[in-house]
Amino acid sequence: MNDTILNRHYDELPESYLFSTIARKIAEYKAGHPGADVIKLGIGDVTTPLVPAVVAAMHRAVDEMGTREGFRGYGPEQGYEFLREAVARGEFAPRGVELSPDEIFISDGSKCDVANFQELFSSDCRVAIPDPVYPVYLDSNLMAGRRAVFLPAHAENGFQPELPEAPVDAIYLCSPNNPTGTVLTRETLERFVDYALKNGSIILFDAAYSAYIRDEKLVHSIYEIPGAKSCAVEFRSFSKTAGFTGVRCAVTVVPRELEKLRRMWLRRQSTKFNGVNYVVQRAAEAVYSPEGAAQVKRVIDGYMANAAAIRNGLTDCGFTVYGGEHAPYIWWKLPRGEKSFDFFDRLLASCEVVGTPGSGFGACGEGYFRLTAFGEAEATRRALERIAARLK
Ligand code: MLT
Repeated sequence: MNDTILNRHYDELPESYLFSTIARKIAEYKAGHPGADVIKLGIGDVTTPLVPAVVAAMHRAVDEMGTREGFRGYGPEQGYEFLREAVARGEFAPRGVELSPDEIFISDGSKCDVANFQELFSSDCRVAIPDPVYPVYLDSNLMAGRRAVFLPAHAENGFQPELPEAPVDAIYLCSPNNPTGTVLTRETLERFVDYALKNGSIILFDAAYSAYIRDEKLVHSIYEIPGAKSCAVEFRSFSKTAGFTGVRCAVTVVPRELEKLRRMWLRRQSTKFNGVNYVVQRAAEAVYSPEGAAQVKRVIDGYMANAAAIRNGLTDCGFTVYGGEHAPYIWWKLPRGEKSFDFFDRLLASCEVVGTPGSGFGACGEGYFRLTAFGEAEATRRALERIAARLK
């Protein structure tokens, strides 16, 4: 094959995706240590089963599909109206945000949406990305041949990224933040919205973890900020809210105020995507039923109890940690300037506990380590016991 026909921008990517690298390292360790009891607090994958209201809705939908009257073939690419209405009512209206179903797009994941959305921008669009942050924003722009400017977020600025110094056209923001587990303040979001409105930029706001915010006064949706509908797209997911990492369903909002972009996203989705299956959309709808909402809340409370246990456990050992109060991630400052990947190896070898090296989320993540609260409570407790006994 002639390599010149290939997209040369792939050469600019790290050799493998962050979580693929971690999975390979775990597999190598296990191969060398048969019978090892490795506790995984690395990738933010949920461990609690689907809640009963969701399971019941799935069963009902499967039964419907087995009848002549209830059978459905291709669904609408934008998602069934019943789910888009439920999202508008259940997710946004309680925060005082009015959205109509045609501003809401259902997909099979926020990762894909957030990675695909950049296709709507020109190749010379200037992109700003917080550092550290979910690696998909950077990787998908590198694949498209774009470079990014980074907006550092660290303990000294309270994990509130500064505005870009040079003008940019698209700005990614993630709150509650993956990986730091910290939340952007209303003031920070107002500054970014103000910047975007003045400069004609678009904010790509990833709110995949908004259900974990414990303080009602904190901003859950970018549209709570006046003017945001004219400059922001928002991504939400059922993955972390309702345990759908294996089920797959997410929401992207492109407001009417950004009509050209909304039409482009519809055009893109109807060309390249065939919709989420009916059974899954009925399952997602059930998350907004009174019993579904209560059940999902209990699951989230359980994960947040893990987050508190990790925060307290590490703090009691004398470590400095951030996040974990409004998010299922704890951002652990490594003592003595240890490198994140070195610590990954040391933690695995000494405690058989897996986390995610902070540097995998950007240069500002070097010297940090992320633990997820999505593990089972008992496994999380054992991981902390091992850390306290072997690393203190
Ligand atoms: C993470 O661990 O950062 C997330 O699980 C990744 C994802 O949601 O794709």
